[in-house]
Amino acid sequence: MKFNIALLAGDGIGPEVIDQAVKVSDAVAKKFGHDINWKPALTGAAAIDAVGEPYPDETHEICKSSDAVLFGAIGHPRFDNDPSAKVRPEQGLLKMRKALGLFANVRPTFTFPSLLEKSPLKKERIEGTDLVFLRELTGGIYFGEKGRREEGETAYDNCVYTRAEVQRLAKKGFELAMTRSKKLCCVDKANVLETSRLWRETVQAMEKDYPEVEVSYEFVDAVAMRLVQWPNSYDVLITENLFGDILTDEASVISGSMGLMPSASLGSDIGLFEPIHGSYPQAAGKNIANPMATVLSAAMMFENFGLHEEGKAIRTVVNKALNEGIVTEDLADGGVSYGTSEVGDWLAENI
Ligand code: IPM
Ligand code: MN
Repeated sequence: MKFNIALLAGDGIGPEVIDQAVKVSDAVAKKFGHDINWKPALTGAAAIDAVGEPYPDETHEICKSSDAVLFGAIGHPRFDNDPSAKVRPEQGLLKMRKALGLFANVRPTFTFPSLLEKSPLKKERIEGTDLVFLRELTGGIYFGEKGRREEGETAYDNCVYTRAEVQRLAKKGFELAMTRSKKLCCVDKANVLETSRLWRETVQAMEKDYPEVEVSYEFVDAVAMRLVQWPNSYDVLITENLFGDILTDEASVISGSMGLMPSASLGSDIGLFEPIHGSYPQAAGKNIANPMATVLSAAMMFENFGLHEEGKAIRTVVNKALNEGIVTEDLADGGVSYGTSEVGDWLAENI
């Protein structure tokens, strides 16, 4: 097959990890007879510097005319430490999610047998963990009205959800649960928040359409606790935007390194594939960032095209690298480690 893939490297370690995902994807394309046309485009702080905004129209046009978007990371400390900044790199990511209609963020958490000892959690607790968060991505407090009043002394961020927004996300959750162990957990704060009560009511009403799926409803604070106590007890979890943001960072600890977990943002014809980690500015340009989350995001991209063998080839080679210790310093425990690009080269060669 022939693909056009928009390539948004972004900020910090973004360009370095993206380079490795490109190498590995090209190796997969060569092996399986595909042809990938990469279309680089600007985003984040890099785009602000070049054209004054983090998701320029030109980038949007490139994304829209592609089959998928492969994304690195966004964010720069220059903006984090300046609360008065009017334009921020993160706005680019939010704008892109909204503009491309990517309302469902699929964030799996799984363990690698060779890394069970690397997690700060006890091996017997995390062994066999294989769960997926479906995080709502284009609504809630991220996109509600926000601002200041009383001469700046009061700030507000509104959290708003419509029934239709909940339904479309929950539908994906039920469908995903049907392909897995048929267990779905709706994460909310229905004891306090009205939006959560709408979530719960909406999901409850959908239960009859999926009689085989066993649905549980849990409060987000309790999930935050049980997630690290008994991660094995979860399978598919659906939740709103901010809860999902927080819980998926927490869940990444289970796998041993945040540098390992990929994600897919879906909702329209064009999917966006990106690591769940941020731009890690302290590591930028040092060739030390772990590229595996981005490489595994490329695996999700192939799988989303229905190319499961291709995805599997990437997953297999990542496992092989982990088993053989071809890892960056975050996974090396002070032992032998490799640079970002050396890990990428090894992965591509071993495809
Ligand atoms: C993520 C990130 C983003 C988010 C930031 C960079 C806007 O943390 O993808 O989880 O909060 O959604
Ligand atoms: Mn996040």
